Amino acid sequence: MPINRYVDEDVTRRRIETEGHRSVVGGLWDVMGTLQRDFLISRGLQPGHDLLDIGCGSLRAGRPLVAWLEPSRYHGVDISASLIEAGYTNEIVAAGFADRLPRENLFVTSDFEIPFDISFDAAIATSVFTHLTLDYLTRCLERLHPAMKPEGRFYATFFEGEGISLNRPDGVVTHPDRDPFHFSQAQIRAATPGNWAFEWIGDWDHPRDQKMACFIRR
Ligand SMILES: C[S@@+](CC[C@H](N)C(=O)[O-])C[C@H]1O[C@@H](n2cnc3c(N)ncnc32)[C@H](O)[C@@H]1O
Repeated sequence: MPINRYVDEDVTRRRIETEGHRSVVGGLWDVMGTLQRDFLISRGLQPGHDLLDIGCGSLRAGRPLVAWLEPSRYHGVDISASLIEAGYTNEIVAAGFADRLPRENLFVTSDFEIPFDISFDAAIATSVFTHLTLDYLTRCLERLHPAMKPEGRFYATFFEGEGISLNRPDGVVTHPDRDPFHFSQAQIRAATPGNWAFEWIGDWDHPRDQKMACFIRR
C-alpha cells in the first residue's frame, strides 16, 4: 500500500476529473493561497527573491505568489504531473499569468530533485510532510541544501503531536504511523541533517491547526 494517495498518479488524475484540482490539494483555496503568500512576506520575502514551492500541487500558493513576485521568481516541484498541469492551465494561463511563470519553472519529481540553476532565497512546503514519514523530510533537506543560499529559510508545516491518534479542526484525525501524520518537535529536530538549523514557529493561523517549522541552511 502506498504511503499516501498522491503517490498513485492514476488516482490523482481521476480525482482531478471528479473533484477538481482545487479540492485534491485540500480545498480552502483562497484562504490557503493568501495565507502562504502573506506568511512568507511577513518573514521577509521580497518581490525580487527566488522562491521554491516544494509539493506545489495545483498552485494554490503559486497563483498569489506568481502575481506578487517578479516574473520567473516562483518555482515549484511536485510528485504529480497532473496536478502541476491542471494548476498551470487553470490557475496561471487562464488568469493571464503565463508571462510571469515560464512552464519550465515547474518540475515533476518523486525524490525532491531540484533541477533549477538557482540559489533560492526561501522555500516552502505546506501540507506535504503531513502526508509523509520523516525520512522524506530528511531526504528533502539533503537535496534542497545545495539549492539554497546560505541562511536561506525553508518553511514546512506539520501536525504536532505524539503517540495516539488526535482529532483536529474540520474533522481531521492525525496519526503517529499513517497519513495524515503527526510528529513531535523532537522527532522533527532529530530528522534534520546537521547542515540545517531547526526552529519551531508554531501557530501561523492555519485553519486545520498545522504548525510551521523553519529550517535554516547553514
Ligand atoms: C495537500 S497537497 C498541498 C499542495 C500545496 N503545497 C498547497 O498548499 O496547495 C500535498 C501535495 O504534496 C505533493 N506530494 C506528496 N508527496 C510528495 C513527494 N514525495 N514529493 C513531492 N510532492 C509530493 C502532492 O502531490 C500534493 O500536491
